[in-house]
Formats: sequence, structure tokens, C-alpha cells
Amino acid sequence: MQDASELILPELSRNGRLQGRTAIVTGAGSHGELAGTGAAMAILFALEGAQVLVVDVDRGRAEHTLRAVRAVGGTAEVAIADITVPDMCRSAADFAVERFGSVDVLVNNAAIAPDESTTSDELWQRVVDINLRGAQLMCDAAIPHMRQAGGGSIVMIGSIAGLRGGAGVAYSAAKAGMIGMAKSMAFTHGRAGIRINVVAPGHVAIPMGLGYSGAGWDGEVNAREMRAQAGLSGTEGTAWDVAYTALFFASPESRYVTAATVAVDAGTTEVMPIVMLPYLAGSVGSYSTSG
Ligand SMILES: NC(=O)c1ccc[n+]([C@@H]2O[C@H](COP(=O)([O-])OP(=O)(O)OC[C@H]3O[C@@H](n4cnc5c(N)ncnc54)[C@H](O)[C@@H]3O)[C@@H](O)[C@H]2O)c1
Repeated sequence: MQDASELILPELSRNGRLQGRTAIVTGAGSHGELAGTGAAMAILFALEGAQVLVVDVDRGRAEHTLRAVRAVGGTAEVAIADITVPDMCRSAADFAVERFGSVDVLVNNAAIAPDESTTSDELWQRVVDINLRGAQLMCDAAIPHMRQAGGGSIVMIGSIAGLRGGAGVAYSAAKAGMIGMAKSMAFTHGRAGIRINVVAPGHVAIPMGLGYSGAGWDGEVNAREMRAQAGLSGTEGTAWDVAYTALFFASPESRYVTAATVAVDAGTTEVMPIVMLPYLAGSVGSYSTSG
């Protein structure tokens, strides 16, 4: 894949919050101008002083992000890996140590969100394999390095689909599974100085989520406007909102926070749905219960 365009970046901080650390971000590839969360974290973490390993199964997408990191003066390398293959996960983590000297931060961001309106065992297995088992395999690859170094921080990019119904069944199961995995791993590795937290994005404007408006709406739906109105601020979130939350978990500022899940959703999952209806009404046609 060859992109002519490059990612559009907002004004970003450079406060050295990850100075001297090495961060692996899975699924950090990108395409076009709109950053996904993986690309946003790779760029922000690099600007904050980290050496970043961009892990992705797609070389074109990985190199697109690499160019963006280097364009802002950051340090990064690419590792092409399918996170469902244990050897590839190990090679990626080993490469980070070989190239940068450590693995201090691992972000499990790689995921797929296919249409699940027609389910099958194959689809279930693929979604759970990438979105849940892949995260486990990357943890298995990175944790020995973290233990040897005396600690580290793992950030799982979950989803509000792991907290509330409304998305695909396998996708939701995998994202909910990440939360259980994080809590259990936080216990298992806590005394080794390893913290594990979950960032659960809501309806943020990233390539993966654009267009999602839930099932059952008839007529004209302005999906982006509706998703903005579902939150308490009435504004759309971005990949950078997710990246700044992950930055806190990645950095030593959160040293006393582990096994936590934070939704980055402008309160969407904390409010009674019916009180939001007046806000949502302007962006949709009508709702069909047969939907
Ligand atoms: N609004 C939303 O879309 C929304 C909401 C909640 C949570 N999320 C979560 O946020 C994250 C979105 O990530 P993004 O914005 O970077 O998505 P993206 O689609 O831009 O990038 C995902 C990357 O993962 C890579 N990938 C897919 N399978 C892989 C594999 N087996 N091995 C290695 N890499 C693989 C892809 O090549 C791609 O570059 C995901 O974890 C998603 O589940 C999204």
C-alpha cells in the first residue's frame, strides 16, 4: 500500500513524560490523513520521548506511521508481525530490546471490527484470535523483558463495547475479555512491578469507527453527529483523546494505578440513555424496533 497523503496532526505536547522509555504499540499502522488510535499513540509517545516500535501486520500501513513519527523528530522502528503468531510476537519484543535496550511499555491496540450481522464460527474465532488472544501473546512476549528490567506498563485498548451491548457479539466478548485479562495479569505480575490498565474508547472519530450508528435506525442518520450527541459534552472524540489517556497509563505518573478501566467516551456509558434522547433526536430519522 502506498499513500501519497500523510497523517494530519493536531498541536501535540512534548513534555518528556516517556523520556528514555521504549514503547511497543501494536496495530499502529495507518493510512491517509486520519490517525487511528495506534498511530496517534505511536506519534504522541515518540514526541514525549519514547523510542517506539510500530507493530503491524501490514507493512504499508506501518511505514506510513513510521514516516509520521520521524517527520516530527521522533525515534521509531517497524516490526511486521501478525499478533496471532507467537513467534512473530516474540521476535517483535526481542527486536525492541535489541534495537532500543528494553520494553517498558506495551500497548495492545491491534484489533478488527468486522460486520457481525451474519455470524459464523470462523468469524468468532478470527475476532477473538486477533482482539483477545493476540493481546495475550504480545503480553507473553513482552512480560519476560519487563520482569527482567524490574517492571513495565501494559495498556489494553478495549472498547465501551466491552462494557455495554450494541456492538458485534465476538467483538464485545473479546473487549470484555481484555478487562478480565488485565485484572488477572495485574495481580499475577504486580509484585514484579508491572501495571496493566485498560483504556476503553467510545464513539471516537477514527477510521475503524466512522459510520457506526448502531442497528435499527430508519431514514437519514448523521452517524458522526449522533455519536457526538451520545456523550455528555456533545462533541466528537478523536484518536488523540485516547492517546493522551494511554500516555498517562504508560508513564510513571500512574505508578499507583493498575487493573483499572477508563472509558474515553465523554460519559456515554455513565448516563441514563433516555435523558440523551432530546440530544440524539436532531441527528436521526426514526427508530424501528424491528431493526
Ligand atoms: N470508535 C472506534 O472505532 C473504536 C471504539 C472503541 C474501541 N476501539 C478500539 O480502538 C482501537 C482502534 O485502533 P486503530 O484506530 O489503530 O485502528 P485501525 O483500524 O486504524 O488500525 C488497526 C491496525 O491493526 C492492524 N492489525 C489487524 N490485524 C492485525 C494482526 N493480526 N497483527 C498485527 N496487526 C494487525 C491493521 O493492519 C491496522 O493497521 C482498536 O483496538 C479498536 O477495537 C475503536
